[in-house]
Amino acid sequence: MGGAVEPARGSAAPGLSPQTPLTPLNPRAAAHRILAGVRVGTLSDLAASRILPDVDPVDRGLALDIAFGCLRLRARLDVWIEAFADRPLRRIDPVVRDWLRIGVYQLTELRTPDHAAVGETVRAARAGVGRKRVGYVNAVLRAVARGRDGTDPFPAPDADPVAHLCAWGSHPEWLLRRWLARWPLADVRRLVERQNRPPDVVLRMLDGDDPAPPEGVRLAPVPGWPRSFTLAEGAPAAALAGLRAVVQDPAASSVVDYVGRRPAGPVLDVCAAPGTKAVGLAAEYGVPVVALDISRGRLARLAAPARRLKLPVSAAVADARRLPVAEAGTVLADVPCTGTGVLRRRADARWRLDERGLGALVALQREIMDACADAVRPGGLLVYSTCSLEREENEGQVDAFLERRLDYRREPPDAAPDGCLTPRGDLFVRPWVTDTDGAYAARLRRVA
Ligand SMILES: C[S@@+](CC[C@H](N)C(=O)[O-])C[C@H]1O[C@@H](n2cnc3c(N)ncnc32)[C@H](O)[C@@H]1O
Repeated sequence: MGGAVEPARGSAAPGLSPQTPLTPLNPRAAAHRILAGVRVGTLSDLAASRILPDVDPVDRGLALDIAFGCLRLRARLDVWIEAFADRPLRRIDPVVRDWLRIGVYQLTELRTPDHAAVGETVRAARAGVGRKRVGYVNAVLRAVARGRDGTDPFPAPDADPVAHLCAWGSHPEWLLRRWLARWPLADVRRLVERQNRPPDVVLRMLDGDDPAPPEGVRLAPVPGWPRSFTLAEGAPAAALAGLRAVVQDPAASSVVDYVGRRPAGPVLDVCAAPGTKAVGLAAEYGVPVVALDISRGRLARLAAPARRLKLPVSAAVADARRLPVAEAGTVLADVPCTGTGVLRRRADARWRLDERGLGALVALQREIMDACADAVRPGGLLVYSTCSLEREENEGQVDAFLERRLDYRREPPDAAPDGCLTPRGDLFVRPWVTDTDGAYAARLRRVA
């Protein structure tokens, strides 16, 4: 799964033309189109990147906020809808259902004034659905607006914590049950709450911790991460034009740091796209990086930051299960994973995941790891990383690898951020502790 960068609430999306299209698309209609794309299987960030160019730049933040908010909080919004509609959700036409989610999201989450949330949503819906269905959208939204403050349609958090987390927390039950089997309820509640918040845009400074932002850009330090700053004001493109920095969550930066001082170069980054860690590695350690990925399209996104920062990163399309390289000194395998540590960034991901998909990813990760293990020369380092919280993809995967490969040993790092090292020396960044994305990494030295 990808490392897409979602813009901060209210900001324009990075990388999009700042020009206003000739006939701009209403932001609520754009949100509805994004939801329609996701309904037929398109990934949310891909659907958004197709629709947003048709939206006035000043409205893009709102369109994204509504669309991604509706995806993240889908289960919560559906409870509101069911509480006020005259029929169960499954009997509401999917197109109408999405309009209802859009309206209810504005009423209950954005606290948009009722007349605007209902009126603007109905106006946008009118262009796409018939009069009868618009009437239904109008009636249900008005009922929610009238009744929401005197109603609590959610299961009680103490009487039935799982049902509450499924509904109010808007997470699938199977995932919650996995987490609750490992961590206390209070931690899972904090995790769920963080996964439901839109992510900020965080910049990692490549030269020190005292940046001088260009005009129109304001940065706020991220507590506990000296070189990371939240983009508090201004567009990402403007900030990047004036700073030696990359867009990177602190959790991803900690994986770059975890690789360790002066890795033997060139570093081979075998699942590199869109390239934030490849660029980070080249900048951090001053070593050439060879960035490989199976996806040509995603790999293309690496070129711009590497060029802007004048870094020695070369890129090639390759399948990490059949690496075209042997005898590498350092290999980073930032493998495809469920991404359960970054659900806030991938608005629709929680609804796509299931145990079967997890199993398929674990098998793919194992293949990639074995191919990487052969590519590292004796004495070299393999760093395995994910943005997952799941044991099978993390320490379970590494433990099984070490049982197969007696020529590898875990090698703990010299240092790691507070509270982010497991007893065995693996990196484990927990979103509910750090208020960042989640991440996992293990350093594996080839000893023979
Ligand atoms: C977690 S993302 C990598 C994020 C990247 N390291 C970064 O920091 O920007 C996983 C990547 O693995 C790639 N991938 C999936 N299967 C692969 C394979 N068999 N060989 C190489 N890359 C693969 C995906 O295209 C995706 O870009």
